[in-house]
Amino acid sequence: MGKGTGFGKVILFGEHFVVQGVPGIVSAIDLAAHAEAKKTGEGITIKDERRGAKGYTEKKRTQQKESIERMLEIMGIDLEKASLEIRLGGNLPSFSGIGASAASSVAIARAIAEELEMDLSDQRINEIAYEAEKAYAGTPSGIDNTAATYGGLIWFKKNLSGGPNTIERLSIMGPVEIVIGNTGVVADTRKMVASVAERKKHEPEKYNPLFNQAESLAFEARKALEDFDIKKVGRLMNENHRLLQQIEVSSKELDYLINLALDHGAFGAKLTGGGGGGCMIALTPRKELQNAVANAMEKEGFEVLRTKIGVQKL
Ligand code: MEV
Repeated sequence: MGKGTGFGKVILFGEHFVVQGVPGIVSAIDLAAHAEAKKTGEGITIKDERRGAKGYTEKKRTQQKESIERMLEIMGIDLEKASLEIRLGGNLPSFSGIGASAASSVAIARAIAEELEMDLSDQRINEIAYEAEKAYAGTPSGIDNTAATYGGLIWFKKNLSGGPNTIERLSIMGPVEIVIGNTGVVADTRKMVASVAERKKHEPEKYNPLFNQAESLAFEARKALEDFDIKKVGRLMNENHRLLQQIEVSSKELDYLINLALDHGAFGAKLTGGGGGGCMIALTPRKELQNAVANAMEKEGFEVLRTKIGVQKL
């Protein structure tokens, strides 16, 4: 049996903007997807045992199936003849916005490669997972699969001409606690990404300045992270969220959780990932603040994850 792992992630700065070549900053979290792949005689079967997967819509399941087919194809595996039982688990719940799809793709690609005795580099695994991401995000930037493959804190810039993307590892003085709050609304990243592209095309006078602001913000945020100026990182996250609101990818549930987190002392808060539902993150250095914010959300019935950014390895 082959086994594989992929990291969960939060985007700290630049989701959506990153699809169109603006740099983004992503951090792996200390939760991961695990996959097992075993040759059988019965075509491709998927057993998804991750927390949250039960709430998957039919659409999400179709996307999952498409993503695996895309992966097998790019790995040179004949879809007609392939017979694999794939089991998905791990402690990363399949909430929207925390890289669950990319983490599962990386885990599955690694598990299949091991089962079929293919010796694949991380770079190749990342390329395969990128292909799989197209099923979930349409025209993904590649930021999620990159975080899922390599882990750590990463500065990412998509190469719009098709060449290699910029992937730089950032290091910060130490890990910082965050809270991930789940709105409970399953979001469709593919639809969200396509709708931003559509609006940008039709309203360039509104959207181009917002994309320029997102670019300046990414550079400022990188410096603040490297200087370990956590107060400033929080302030910039708030600014990033305002830009995300202006490109219309936030939702009332996300804004509610963000305000709740800020009211309870979070240094900053924003949506993370595709938006339209899914998850938000709050920057909550130290356990006491993390608990105060997480408890406030739990008290209102929302599911939360207490984790950290800047962890180098699981
Ligand atoms: C999704 O986690 C992040 C998006 O920017 C899509 C992408 O970059 O592929 C919305």
